Amino acid sequence: MAHSLGMFVVLALAFAMVWATDHSPLQDFCVADMSGQVLVNGFTCKNPKWVQASDFYFSGMHTKGNTSNVLGSSVTPAFVFQIPGLNTLGISLARLDFAPWGVIPPHTHPRATEILTVLEGQIEVGFVTSNPENRHFSKVLNKGDVFVFPVNLVHYQRNVGNTYAVAIVALSSQNPGVIPIANAVFGSNPDISTDILAKAFQVSDNVINGIQLKF
Ligand SMILES: *[C@@H]1O[C@H](CO)[C@@H](O)[C@H](O)[C@H]1NC(C)=O
Repeated sequence: MAHSLGMFVVLALAFAMVWATDHSPLQDFCVADMSGQVLVNGFTCKNPKWVQASDFYFSGMHTKGNTSNVLGSSVTPAFVFQIPGLNTLGISLARLDFAPWGVIPPHTHPRATEILTVLEGQIEVGFVTSNPENRHFSKVLNKGDVFVFPVNLVHYQRNVGNTYAVAIVALSSQNPGVIPIANAVFGSNPDISTDILAKAFQVSDNVINGIQLKF
């Protein structure tokens, strides 16, 4: 009995590790065939005979993103959609640009842990743990600093300077996904009922309607 329980725990841990990121590849590569008609988890493989160096390549991380928007920030992704060779490899990259005091608002990545390094400027970062603690870890990062956001947790970044800031992030998924909290809650289609949100946020319906209009 004790033996089988121990075995169960070992198996559960093994699965927890396997499922923590994208699945392990069973071959050298499986370059995404974006025109494939078969629906699988990820993309089907392009015939390896037709694979080229360009399937593993993306050019553009040197280009500053357009931060002329309400948030003052921009994300340039290098996910499987930009680099088909990332299919099944469980990793990707993005460039973050920030106008002075620009923000990437609270969001989560349902499929990835994120690790960030600052190339230029000063960036305040933070994440919040799950209930009931909801512990908030935050830090102001300088050029060369590195910070990790554990998978799934709500996190944010903000430029805390009067100059432009740039960061590079790596993510433990070919397709990390993003759930911006405000958009998901106030900008869903169709809307979540105003009275549900009014109760959830403990404000009047009018306040909720005002926020919903912005999303
Ligand atoms: C940046 O984005 C804004 C808003 O979408 C747009 O008006 C502007 O033309 C863009 N600038 C460049 C350089 O692409």
